[in-house]
Amino acid sequence: MQFDLIIIGAGPGGYVAAIRAAQLGMKVAVVDSRAKAGGTCLNVGCIPSKTLLHSSHKYWSANNEFDHYGITCDNVDIDLKKMIAHKDAIIDDLTSGIGFLFRKNKIEFIHGRASFKKSEEKTTVQVQPIDEGGKIAGDVKILEAPHIIIATGSKPIEIPGLPFDEKKILSSTGALTLTHAPHHLVVIGGGYIGLELGSVWRRLGSEVTVVEAMPDIVMTMDKDVRDSLKKSLMNLGISFKFHRKVFGYRQHEKKMHLQLAATNETLEKEEMMVCDAVLVAVGRTPCTDHLGLKDVGIATDERGFITVDKGFKTSCAGVYAIGDVIGGMMLAHKAEEEGIALVESLNTQAGHINYNVIPAVIFTQPEVASVGLTEEQAKEQGYTLKIGKFPMAANSLAKAISQTEGFVKIIADQKTDRVLGVHIVGAQAGAMIAEAAIAMEFSASAEDLARTCHAHPTFSEALKEAGWETFSKALHK
Ligand code: NAI
Repeated sequence: MQFDLIIIGAGPGGYVAAIRAAQLGMKVAVVDSRAKAGGTCLNVGCIPSKTLLHSSHKYWSANNEFDHYGITCDNVDIDLKKMIAHKDAIIDDLTSGIGFLFRKNKIEFIHGRASFKKSEEKTTVQVQPIDEGGKIAGDVKILEAPHIIIATGSKPIEIPGLPFDEKKILSSTGALTLTHAPHHLVVIGGGYIGLELGSVWRRLGSEVTVVEAMPDIVMTMDKDVRDSLKKSLMNLGISFKFHRKVFGYRQHEKKMHLQLAATNETLEKEEMMVCDAVLVAVGRTPCTDHLGLKDVGIATDERGFITVDKGFKTSCAGVYAIGDVIGGMMLAHKAEEEGIALVESLNTQAGHINYNVIPAVIFTQPEVASVGLTEEQAKEQGYTLKIGKFPMAANSLAKAISQTEGFVKIIADQKTDRVLGVHIVGAQAGAMIAEAAIAMEFSASAEDLARTCHAHPTFSEALKEAGWETFSKALHK
């Protein structure tokens, strides 16, 4: 079968690239081993976790916050089966939506396992069709195209000694389908997944302990952000054990006895922790198994990520790679941008991504969002800084709806006033960060943010006030 473009992987990188390529007139085939398009993000990642974060927050609110607003509700209960079914229905709806977009754009979606084949100087893709259960379903198809994109994403890293069984040793996938809240859930890894899914199960009734090898949660975030988020999560009832790794466990009756090793010399070398289940969230590794990369000379780095040049070209002519499989920030929207930039460059020779302006959001309560440099990074890069910080507690909407946790922090260059980074902790941080990203994309100064009229009463006024703090004084502080 002949196409202009073959894309392996129908996650946010692959499916968005496919739609843009079709809009630009290419005949596109997308191959995925999942029956439903959408990749990790829609099937077992961003969307299901956000659905459960939302549902669990409603339950938590009803039990812990409604009373504050004068609403009495007794005997609040959870129907976990229904909550999970609701999440599954949302996934179905969204993945079908991608099916619709594929049909609308005349993109051929092939459910099967793809691998590379070299034949007569050509690189082709061989696809073994499979059914929903992963069994072989039909004859191998050979696809040909002048351009092939690998967008196969990533999968959770396993810790030796703790193989996933998705019952007691959970990956992020298993933690989205539990049928009851474990009494004590230990989360290994205080990163994005650990903090989001740890929040879900804490709200639904589990005792949650986060075990983190580093001295703090999400070390890539600004220190002020980490301090604030940690405080909020501790208020939720999550406990933290830093400087520790889990290296194994022993099952004793129904309990797991986890073996922890210190990563800091001042601590006991080894200790034990009793729990009912563990969620392993220690990062993700690229999905390249069975692709046959070596057969066609596609190089990977020491961690298995496919190596590409600035134009996403791999070491095999005509083959490109984007998204988690090439490393960098493992975020759906980063993969989307790469997909669009690549197919535009294949068609129009123009395609660019500003990696300095990729926002990141953690959907805890409050949310955390950031874009650009942290204070620590900016100092390391030799900038002299102007920093403006404004607390949500002084924002009128935050007060009106009693969501006063957090702050906005703007980091600007002392010399030019250019915004270098924005960090937000707050109820609507995820939505607010878009304004900061646009400001940075257009090289705005911190004073530009301060002097732009912001609607009242909104959380975004905190951004404006933080802007004022960089060169003068906030008006409501
Ligand atoms: P992560 O890289 O965010 O965090 C992993 C954490 O585990 C790190 O803090 C690391 O120090 C710690 N760690 C590593 N090995 C350990 C060990 N043996 N014992 C204890 N701690 C250990 O990775 P995570 O949370 O698994 O997420 C994977 C990727 O998925 C992230 O890169 C993130 O970008 C993405 N993601 C994004 C979300 C969002 O945009 N809201 C939500 C969920 C995931």
